[in-house]
Amino acid sequence: MMNINLNELLLSLSYTLDFVEMDVLGVTSNHSKRVAYIANRLALFLGSHPEERYDLVACAILHDNGVTKYMLEMAARAKKHKKKFVLENVKEHCTIGQKNIENYPFLTDVRDVIKYHHEAYDGSGFFGVKGMEIPMMSQLIFFGDYLDNKFNFKLIHYNKIKQVEQFIQEQANKLFAPEIVEAFMQVSQQSSFWLDLSDNFIEYAIKYTLPEIKREVTWCELQQITEIFSRIIDNKSEFTLRHSHDLANKVEKMARYYKKDEIEVLQLKIAANLHDLGKLAISNEILDKPDRLKEDELYLIRQHTYFSRICLSQIEGFEELTEWACNHHEKLDGSGYPFGLKKDALDFNSRLIMCLDIYQALMEERPYREGLSHEKGMSILRDMVDAQLIDGGIVEDVHDVFKSS
Ligand SMILES: [Fe+2]
Ligand SMILES: [Fe+2]
Ligand SMILES: [Fe+2]
Ligand SMILES: [Fe+2]
Repeated sequence: MMNINLNELLLSLSYTLDFVEMDVLGVTSNHSKRVAYIANRLALFLGSHPEERYDLVACAILHDNGVTKYMLEMAARAKKHKKKFVLENVKEHCTIGQKNIENYPFLTDVRDVIKYHHEAYDGSGFFGVKGMEIPMMSQLIFFGDYLDNKFNFKLIHYNKIKQVEQFIQEQANKLFAPEIVEAFMQVSQQSSFWLDLSDNFIEYAIKYTLPEIKREVTWCELQQITEIFSRIIDNKSEFTLRHSHDLANKVEKMARYYKKDEIEVLQLKIAANLHDLGKLAISNEILDKPDRLKEDELYLIRQHTYFSRICLSQIEGFEELTEWACNHHEKLDGSGYPFGLKKDALDFNSRLIMCLDIYQALMEERPYREGLSHEKGMSILRDMVDAQLIDGGIVEDVHDVFKSS
């Protein structure tokens, strides 16, 4: 059990989430934070309960979590033909995103909030839901999302504010409910609202407006929440479609083999779910490159464990598992990255994930090779043991556990 504010956890993890949209889909930086902030401010004005705002912020941060490989391919194709691609125009991201968050421990009824986050008040959205039949939370997320995409709220100046206000008033009863328009016009009078939206202040602004709800969360619930992120990570590149997911399963099998207690098993799975979180911040131009990477590209891709660490180390209670997750590219002889840690600084669970991450990658198909057999994989791992890169004992245990699968 941990006593935490899940919104803060989501915000820490979303640091890299916003990169996906920025990189592939060309929306603004800090998009999900900005949408969360706008929705939360309006909900506050409209008198929503803290529990509702707590769930609203969670949904807003995760509103575009349904980005999948298929959409990324569409984006890549559009880029090739120099066309603009807007993820927000793909209906499926709403249904997939809704399904992905099924296991999130919400406090209130948030049925279909993500599914309907592109419904317009007049029924002109993807699903044609109309007026007050659209959940209020969806309406607020839609409002923030629409405006940030249309006006790019990270750059605010006086004339833009006036333009936005005019647009919004014209959209009462069309795109937006009149009461939301009314609330916005009031909130917009505070200059702080606009200042808060800039990249420099959004982080601070959202934190001080979050509902202060801490609750007991079990490690099992945390595992389920981090699975949402592992799906987002795996979906980013076609080379890694099941990488984090399959790694987490293998880590669990090994943890059971070592008879670890239930909490440690779950913490190890969380570490596996999130180990490549920082890859969200790496451009697909590099991640999806079918041929060998050049030195300067390797330099960039290797930054991902550093980014994972930036996110995870902000989370109270994640201290140990942050080490296990973020040391996965270190090597026992100090030749790894990002720190070049040596043997003595790498604990057992870090070494375990180091080995399994390599083993998992070898089992996966790549554009330039098939997935390897267990035997081939083992021979590569054993060579690495001889070169003093990874832990020999663990490698033999990996053989023991997976030889017949
Ligand atoms: Fe969306
Ligand atoms: Fe969005
Ligand atoms: Fe990695
Ligand atoms: Fe990995």
